[in-house]
Amino acid sequence: MRLVLLGPPGAGKGSVAALLKKNFSVVHISTGDLLRDEIKEGSPLGKEAKSYIDNGNLVPDEVVIKLIENKIKTDDQIKNGYLFDGFPRTKNQAKGLDEILEKIGKPIEAVFYMETAADLILMRLTGRRICRDCGAVYHIHRHPPKKEGVCDQCSGTDLYQRSDDKEETIKNRLDVYLENTLPIVDYYEAKGILNKIDGGLESEELEAIIAKTCHAS
Ligand code: AP5
Repeated sequence: MRLVLLGPPGAGKGSVAALLKKNFSVVHISTGDLLRDEIKEGSPLGKEAKSYIDNGNLVPDEVVIKLIENKIKTDDQIKNGYLFDGFPRTKNQAKGLDEILEKIGKPIEAVFYMETAADLILMRLTGRRICRDCGAVYHIHRHPPKKEGVCDQCSGTDLYQRSDDKEETIKNRLDVYLENTLPIVDYYEAKGILNKIDGGLESEELEAIIAKTCHAS
């Protein structure tokens, strides 16, 4: 399985990726998660990325491409299967990724474009909460933890809201997505590897569609 999950913020890319990762042997690569790890570590890259992320803007292409290049160089498992989530986000990144993957002889097999309505995105992202200890993702209404404020997976008690999940920042993230990322849909369509799926479906349904499509091809 060598996939890219493409879609607006809140399309559910991370949620589907978590299911695919659990059920198939793929490495999940989320540039958002990699960048937030750098911020947590207080690295120079993290310091540079923070203001872009907090304002809902894209981190410069060269920074993100370098991050991916390093990840691919250092994680041998990637050759057995990968799942990109939130990368690429610009045409430059898409071309850069193709070049990197060509070098290791493992090109992308399929891209899943998760089309999702703006009102659903706003509802999902304003209600998202994340466990600070294990990273499990919840929604205050749609997918709350069994016991309020306590993570089902690790019993952690710090379920926080991401700094870029404020309504104004979400609106900017959506504008940035429409301007920079949506054009990549045409790039992959021209390559004949694009699959459109409905981001409004449940994550389990989406996972089943993706798995079926991949096994059929
Ligand atoms: P990133 O972390 O990649 O955020 P994003 O793409 O905006 O996507 P999200 O993580 O917000 O949403 P998601 O689609 O994964 O949804 P999720 O499954 O969590 O990037 C953050 C920032 O980092 C960017 O703004 C940018 O600054 C920077 N960055 C990252 N990559 C970059 C790059 N390549 N280039 C430059 N800059 C980059 O779900 C959301 C909520 O909805 C959850 O509460 C979940 O429970 C709920 N939910 C999900 N799916 C469903 C469903 N099917 N039904 C019901 N509820 C659902």
